[in-house]
Amino acid sequence: MRMSSAIVTGASSGIGAVYADRLAARGYDLILVARDTERLSDRANRIADRYGVATTPLPLDLSRDGDMDTLLGRIRRDQSIDLIVNSAGVGPHATVIASDDVSLDRMVFLNVNVLHTLTVAAAKAFAARGSGAIINLASVVALMPERFNGSYAAGKAFVVSLSQALDAELRPQGVRIQAVLPGFTRTEIFERAGVDTSAIPTEMMMDPGDMVDAALAGFDAGEVITIPSLENEALWAAFESARLQMSPYLSLNKPAARFAL
Ligand SMILES: NC(=O)c1ccc[n+]([C@@H]2O[C@H](COP(=O)([O-])OP(=O)(O)OC[C@H]3O[C@@H](n4cnc5c(N)ncnc54)[C@H](OP(=O)(O)O)[C@@H]3O)[C@@H](O)[C@H]2O)c1
Repeated sequence: MRMSSAIVTGASSGIGAVYADRLAARGYDLILVARDTERLSDRANRIADRYGVATTPLPLDLSRDGDMDTLLGRIRRDQSIDLIVNSAGVGPHATVIASDDVSLDRMVFLNVNVLHTLTVAAAKAFAARGSGAIINLASVVALMPERFNGSYAAGKAFVVSLSQALDAELRPQGVRIQAVLPGFTRTEIFERAGVDTSAIPTEMMMDPGDMVDAALAGFDAGEVITIPSLENEALWAAFESARLQMSPYLSLNKPAARFAL
C-alpha cells in the first residue's frame, strides 16, 4: 500500500485545485493548504470520495508567520510527505508604478518568500530521507519580464533560478525539483487581481486541466523546467545552451577588452 502524501498549497482553486485532483488520481494522500476553509474542506471531501485517498484540509494563511510554522512543522515531521506543489500565489492588478506598495510587497512575499521557505524546508527534509519531489509554479513571464508587471515577473524568475540551482544540489540526494512555467491559464487569478481578461486572445489562454496534465507529463519525463505550451523543445535547449556558453567568461581576473579606457 502506498504511504506517500503530497502537500498542495493554493489547493482551493485554479492550478492547485487541479494538481490536487490529479495527484489523488495517482494515489497520493493529500494535505490541502489555502485560506478558504469552506472551499478547502469541500474539495478535500469530494477528492476523498472520488479517489478513496486520505485528504486533510489545512486552512492556513501562508503570509502569516504562525500559519507558516504549522506547515513547516508538518513538512519536517511527517515522514509520509514526499511531494510538495507550491501553487499558492497572487497576480498583479496593474503595472509596477501604478500599483500601491503594500500590494506589491504582499505579492512578492507570497510568491517569493513563502515559496522559498517551503522549498528549502522540503529540500532539507526530502534530502535527509533520500527521496521526494518539489513542484514550483513559476510563469513564462520569467522569460519575458519586459512584457508584464516587473515585480511579478522578477519573482517568477526567482522561482526558475531557485529550482534550477536546487536541482544541481538535490539530484545527487535523490530529490527531484521542477519549475512549471505556464502562460495565461484560465483561473481565478485575474478576477482576484481585478484584471479584465477580455483583451487576452483566447488562443493564448490554456485550460488549467490541460496545463497541469502537460506539466505532470513533463515531470514524469524528468524535466526540471516545463513550459506546457512550448511545442519545439529545441528552443529551450538553445536558450540554455546560449546561457551555458557564457559560463567560461563570466568570472575572470580582468575586465573585457571592450571596456578598456
Ligand atoms: N493563471 C495563470 O495565468 C498563471 C500563469 C502563470 C503562473 N501562474 C501561477 O500559478 C499559481 C497558481 O495560480 P492560479 O492561477 O491557480 O490562481 P488562483 O486560482 O487565484 O489560485 C491561487 C491559490 O492560492 C491561494 N492563496 C492565495 N493567497 C494565499 C495565502 N496568503 N495563503 C495560502 N493560500 C493562498 C488561494 O486560495 P485562498 O484564497 O483560499 O487562500 C488559491 O487557492 C500562482 O503561483 C500563479 O502565479 C498562474
